[in-house]
Order: sequence, then C-alpha cells, then structure tokens
Amino acid sequence: MSHVPVMAGEIAEIFAAVPDGIFIDATFGLGGHSAVISKSFGRKFRIIGIDRDPEMLARGGSDLPENIKTRQMRFSELPAFIENSKISSISGVLFDLGLNSAQLDDEARGFSFTHPGPIDMRFDRTSGPTAAELIAKTSESDLIRILKEYGQERQARAIARAIVRERPNDTQSMALLIKGVVGPQRFTKSAARIFQALRIYVNRELEELKTALSGVAPLVDTGGRLAVISYHSLEDGIVKRQFLLDSGKCFCGPAEPRCVCGKRKILKIMTRKPLTPALEEMERNPRARSAKLRYAERI
Ligand SMILES: C[S@@+](CC[C@H](N)C(=O)[O-])C[C@H]1O[C@@H](n2cnc3c(N)ncnc32)[C@H](O)[C@@H]1O
Repeated sequence: MSHVPVMAGEIAEIFAAVPDGIFIDATFGLGGHSAVISKSFGRKFRIIGIDRDPEMLARGGSDLPENIKTRQMRFSELPAFIENSKISSISGVLFDLGLNSAQLDDEARGFSFTHPGPIDMRFDRTSGPTAAELIAKTSESDLIRILKEYGQERQARAIARAIVRERPNDTQSMALLIKGVVGPQRFTKSAARIFQALRIYVNRELEELKTALSGVAPLVDTGGRLAVISYHSLEDGIVKRQFLLDSGKCFCGPAEPRCVCGKRKILKIMTRKPLTPALEEMERNPRARSAKLRYAERI
C-alpha cells in the first residue's frame, strides 16, 4: 500500500527557501514527504522522521537514504526530545495530520466504517485503550459531548443514546447503528463524522497538536519554517489560532486586567488564508480534497 504525499510540490517550494539544517517530519507515516524533501534537496537537510505508529515506521522506515533517521514518538513529545538531545539548527518542521491510507485500509485497525473489523482506532496499537474499550465505559453525556465537539454531528444525542444501548465493538455494528439513527441518506456523512470524533478522542489528537505546535515553534532557527497540512476545521482552527498567537496577536478579552493568552512574537505568518491543492491533485488523490496548508516563518 502506498500513500501519495499531499501537496508535495507546495511543500518542496516552502522549504526551498529555508537555511540548511535539520528537517523534522513530525508525521513520517510511509515517508512520502520525507522522500520528496530528500530527493528535492539532497544534503541540504538531515531529516528526522517521527511517527506515533510503530507499524508505519517499520514499513515506511526501511531502506531509507542515509540522511533520514526515524524514531517512534508522539509529536507532543518533540519539544522535550529536541531539548534533551540538544538538537539545534532546525530549519524545517512539517506536520501532515490525520492518518494515512495504509492505516485507513487496514481492517484490523478499525479506522474505516466501510471495512469490517474491531473498533480499535489507536495510532499506536501498543498503548492505551481502544475505541471499543472507551465506548464500553463512557457515559451517555460524555459521548454526546465527544460526538458534538469532535464530530460536529447534529444527531449526536440520538447516536450517543444508541451507542450506550448497544455498546458496539466492531465497525459494522457501529455503522449499522448510525444508519439506524440518521437514515440511509445522511449515513455516509454522519458515519464519517462519528468515526472522526472517536478517533480524535482515542488519540487525544487536538491536545497533541496544541502541545506540539506551541512547543516546537520556539525551537526552530530564525528563517526556518513550520508547515501544517490539516484535514478538518478543528485541526485548522488550532493551527490558525496558534500561528496568530505566535505572531503576536492577543486573544485576551477586554475584561482581562493583563495579557494571559500566551501571545508571543516569534513567527511571521506566510499564509493569511490556507493554501489548498490544485484541482488536478484533488482529482488524482481524493484524500487531498479537504487539505489545508498553513505555514509560518521563525523570526
Ligand atoms: C497523513 S499521515 C502522514 C503521511 C506522510 N506525510 C507520508 O507522506 O507518508 C499522518 C501520520 O501521522 C501519524 N500521527 C498521528 N498523530 C500523531 C502524533 N500525535 N504524533 C506522531 N505521529 C502522529 C500517523 O500515525 C500517520 O502515520
């Protein structure tokens, strides 16, 4: 199974303009973007590829050029890793969020409502509870909040009620249950939202992103760049807000006696509006359709 790196041309262009140094691919996956960077720039960068999923590193991390090293970790651990390993001269960091085709298509991972399998949904199958285990013990009110907040699903309440009644532990029972609540016409959209919500919850994806973005930006060298490709509005909202905070915008309300929002002036935003893939890429690669790319430069 191959994964076509999204907006590869744009990514290569963004990092052509940075000083030589270390390039961190914070979501290595099957190594698509790292390969593009390595091929485009040769020895300009030493690439460190990290991924939370050891299975992806085992598949994508074999037979790599000598300038690419990989390591398993969560990207929220990157700031501590960089500081503890005394890594300097970081001139590029890329986050390509979400999951890759190999994970989505693997039935045993339970990420897709179209494939039968257990509802696992962990990026790292060696640690933490599966989605099924969480579903088995989460209260109806917590489920409603999760489905609303992370899935933006209008029928969150009715779906949560059905989940608590049936406590499904495989993808097809879950899909059937969702269809039973929303009907066949709204099924595909709702199922995508519910599966997205559960995946975000299981992997604490939004907390991961906030911690990584705010922690990594100060560690990038002047002139270096930080780029993020996101695939839904919750991710993009976090990236947009963190970039604004890091470019000095204050988010405190008028009632605040002094600034508490954590703004700092360390980045110059290079994308007022996010970049999106060319029509041709969207046609060729359906996964690219929802991609939004924002990047900023360390000042
Ligand atoms: C869209 S894929 C990246 C694909 C990659 N750019 C390529 O071209 O092959 C996202 C990857 O990020 C990983 N991932 C998701 N959350 C993570 C986290 N918090 N820390 C590290 N890796 C994470 C997933 O396991 C997945 O392999």
